[in-house]
Amino acid sequence: MSIIAIVFCCFAASNAAKILLATMPQGRSHAGTFMPLMHRLVEDGHEVTVFFEIFRPELPLGGGVKENLILLKGDNMPVDDDPMLSYIVWSGSMRGLSLAIPFYQASITCSALLEKQPEDFYRLSNQTFDLVLTDSLFSPCGYALALLSKKPYVMMHSSDFETFYSYLKGYGRNYATVTPFFVDYEYPEFHVDKFYDRSGAVADFIETTFSVMVPANYFMQRAINPIVDNRYSLSTYVDQTSFSFYDMPESIAWPMPVANDLVSFGAHCKTAQPLKDEFERFVADSKSKGTIIIAFGTVCKWEVAPKRIVDAFVDALNRLSEYRIIWGYKGPKLDGLKSHVMVHPWIPQESILQDKRTKLFVSHGGLKSFKEAVCSETPVVYMPMFAEQLRNSWLARSLHFAEFLNKKNLTADYMEKQMRTILDDNSYQKSVSKLRQFYNDRPSKPLDAGSFWIRRLLKYGGRMPEYFYRVGAKLNSFVYFHMDALSLIAVSMYIVAS
Ligand SMILES: *[C@@H]1O[C@H](CO)[C@@H](O)[C@H](O)[C@H]1NC(C)=O
Ligand SMILES: *[C@@H]1O[C@H](CO)[C@@H](O)[C@H](O)[C@H]1NC(C)=O
Repeated sequence: MSIIAIVFCCFAASNAAKILLATMPQGRSHAGTFMPLMHRLVEDGHEVTVFFEIFRPELPLGGGVKENLILLKGDNMPVDDDPMLSYIVWSGSMRGLSLAIPFYQASITCSALLEKQPEDFYRLSNQTFDLVLTDSLFSPCGYALALLSKKPYVMMHSSDFETFYSYLKGYGRNYATVTPFFVDYEYPEFHVDKFYDRSGAVADFIETTFSVMVPANYFMQRAINPIVDNRYSLSTYVDQTSFSFYDMPESIAWPMPVANDLVSFGAHCKTAQPLKDEFERFVADSKSKGTIIIAFGTVCKWEVAPKRIVDAFVDALNRLSEYRIIWGYKGPKLDGLKSHVMVHPWIPQESILQDKRTKLFVSHGGLKSFKEAVCSETPVVYMPMFAEQLRNSWLARSLHFAEFLNKKNLTADYMEKQMRTILDDNSYQKSVSKLRQFYNDRPSKPLDAGSFWIRRLLKYGGRMPEYFYRVGAKLNSFVYFHMDALSLIAVSMYIVAS
């Protein structure tokens, strides 16, 4: 009996694996997206180590994950506090081609690590891991760690499964039929029955795919190929990923073909602590019609926000004096704010959102805050800033729980109008409450599913047998997009006609 117990104990213990998660430089935001699943893997008994390059210390990630963040020493990195990024965030637009910029910056960061602090990198790469999870965006040193580990690797998508990856992995998705990754500020619309909109979506798909496969691929090859024996190319790396996890809850987004190596782990909600101390005292005002919370995430730095935007915020918020407003704001002192507005560099965002008195969320439309809005049943005014935030805002607006603010023409009147539209009409609240009901109404909880798939993957050595994967991932684009067959038809028609 005791022998069986010992065998069982050791067998169970051997199921615990060493897992490495590598994300983009200064990647707390992406790592934060993956943390609920990572914390779950730690609970399952695995050892999870997180790596990314940092320019300044980060807050701990918690939940028992081991951190191996490498602080780049010496001169300030050119990509840290980049004015171009600040411009894009506060005033500019992104298109498919701009996607190469963060890949370029991450490649410079990775090269700096490899050239100036190789011992830090190799100390990590010399460790043995059973499985490497790499951020789908901007992590060249992470991809190098995966290749050097000689173990199977998985791709982690911090938002939706990106269009170019779905093509590279042969998912047979038709991107003419869904809202493009980058939407225009001037025309934040998508109607599948309009030729113009579909053409825009196709152009966005071609541009983003080109951008990652040509310039981004070149920058990353230059950074890491010297240390991985020229084995890195974006397309072969992607072909070889043994699984993909993405954060977009599939129950609320555009339905798209999925496959047996693609799992969404995003539709989970967590319960926050009730409000305390100064925040509780501030919102507990019997004359208040409710609380409004404003939070823009860590990438939007108010220190570098244009004056026109800060002024519009201050003016618009001052006019909503029947509400209590909490603004997560770190930046220069603001003049002229009235006493119903509290500004604080750090706010308990989820506690405020889950408080029953909270009536409106003003946010940038990152996927984490999108999900927090749904979980807490709070309608939103989105002022999208960069990446796919405009698309998330489009989705929230089409689900009728949000309105949109264009950062480029922001005025106090415009902002007040959009906020009052939601505050004065409870249909937004009703939509988000309804959405919350089916958000995670599914056969298994997403984190349970994530935990199951990782365990199953480990059971088969990190990669499933080859027949498990789509052959489409191995085809070149000429064949994948039926160009060979179409050319044959065209040539035959030409011969018949002449
Ligand atoms: C990593 O391992 C190699 C040999 O495999 C060794 O030469 C090197 O010194 C190690 N580096 C560190 C930082 O441990
Ligand atoms: C700003 O631009 C949006 C379109 O993106 C438009 O709907 C809105 O009315 C404009 N607001 C102002 C104040 O011009």
